[in-house]
Amino acid sequence: MSPPTPSSTTPAEVRDRLGRALRDLRISVTDRCNFRCRYCMPREVFGERFTFLPRSELLTFEEIHRLALLFHGLGVRKLRITGGEPLLRQDVDRLIGMLSGVPDVELALTTNASRLEEMAPRLAAAGLRRITVSLDSLDDAVFRKMNDVEFPVERVLAGIEAAAEAGLAPVKINAMIRRGVNDHTVLELVRYFKDSGCILRFIEFMDVGTTNGWRLDDVVSSAELVERIGAVFPIEPLAPNYRGEVARRWRFVDGGGEIGFISSVSQPFCGDCSRARLSAEGQLYTCLFASAGTDLRAPLRSGAADPALRALIESVWQRRVDRYSELRSRATPELERIEMSYIGG
Ligand code: GTP
Ligand code: 5AD
Ligand code: SF4
Ligand code: SF4
Repeated sequence: MSPPTPSSTTPAEVRDRLGRALRDLRISVTDRCNFRCRYCMPREVFGERFTFLPRSELLTFEEIHRLALLFHGLGVRKLRITGGEPLLRQDVDRLIGMLSGVPDVELALTTNASRLEEMAPRLAAAGLRRITVSLDSLDDAVFRKMNDVEFPVERVLAGIEAAAEAGLAPVKINAMIRRGVNDHTVLELVRYFKDSGCILRFIEFMDVGTTNGWRLDDVVSSAELVERIGAVFPIEPLAPNYRGEVARRWRFVDGGGEIGFISSVSQPFCGDCSRARLSAEGQLYTCLFASAGTDLRAPLRSGAADPALRALIESVWQRRVDRYSELRSRATPELERIEMSYIGG
């Protein structure tokens, strides 16, 4: 019997040392953010201005587009634009227009929605299909305290509505839950987004970076949330949409829609992790908890040809052994790690 010939729709494959394919690329377009969420960019460390990357250090849209095509050639089928806050990058809709031309990839973006109300129509027109909004509480006082810049909840909600109206639906809502901070406002979020067409997902507080004062005691496990939510709004588990999906999916028994739980602390999902991350200055990371990346910008700017760049990316992935969340309990917490705001979650 002759071996099956790969069809034109079968993505090329590069596998890491643990047999995992490369399928997702998360692209950070800026390390800046206009929020100072205490669990991500605490004001004491990041202040008003911090020493963010100067513009010349950032990859240009042309450089990002070229890399996206190379990653596509290695099997990537999902591109997610992140930050910091990606809507702060000037003319980001032009980048979206360019990336929407990469063949058969899903193009999504994660935002704090501070500028979404005005930008949603332009983003959709540029070719964006899906959007994820971070919103940790509907209680205005709690939310303002969490973002630490007095940003009101109602403007985020207006952004979510504008996105849905522009056709970026279903909008996904990510809520990070930290014990003693916003865990008492969980049911209010569920009530608001049930039957709305949005998909609410709860994220366990993670030990990303080194500045957020993470303690295991502050983590509210997904199991606890499922129990608390299920007691009020009956829910049942759903099968994953695809292998390696980050969120565990559940549905409201009464048909009120879907809800998800991202349990990277209590139930790590490294086994299927197919995500690479590109920082705004062109460092390639193979794990959210990595301490070092590989510089792609220097070869890009010194005139490397596509095959050489492709070989470099391929070799980085082939050497990959990351599975931080699975090793967390044994890991040394004092290990150096990049900040979440630098690679956008
Ligand atoms: P979709 O399934 O397309 O919605 O994508 P997604 O769930 O990967 O996207 P999203 O950016 O919404 O991811 C949600 C959050 O999960 C991120 O902001 C991170 O906090 C967390 N997360 C995503 N990927 C990883 C990962 O590889 N490892 C860990 N530990 N956490 C992750
Ligand atoms: N733990 C869990 N989620 C986090 N995020 C940022 N920092 C953390 C953390 N330490 C989330 C934000 C946003 C996404 C980009 O990552 O809440 O939804
Ligand atoms: Fe908050 Fe996201 Fe900004 Fe971090 S990048 S400070 S989580 S809004
Ligand atoms: Fe992937 Fe690293 Fe997250 Fe594990 S900890 S799922 S390897 S990014």
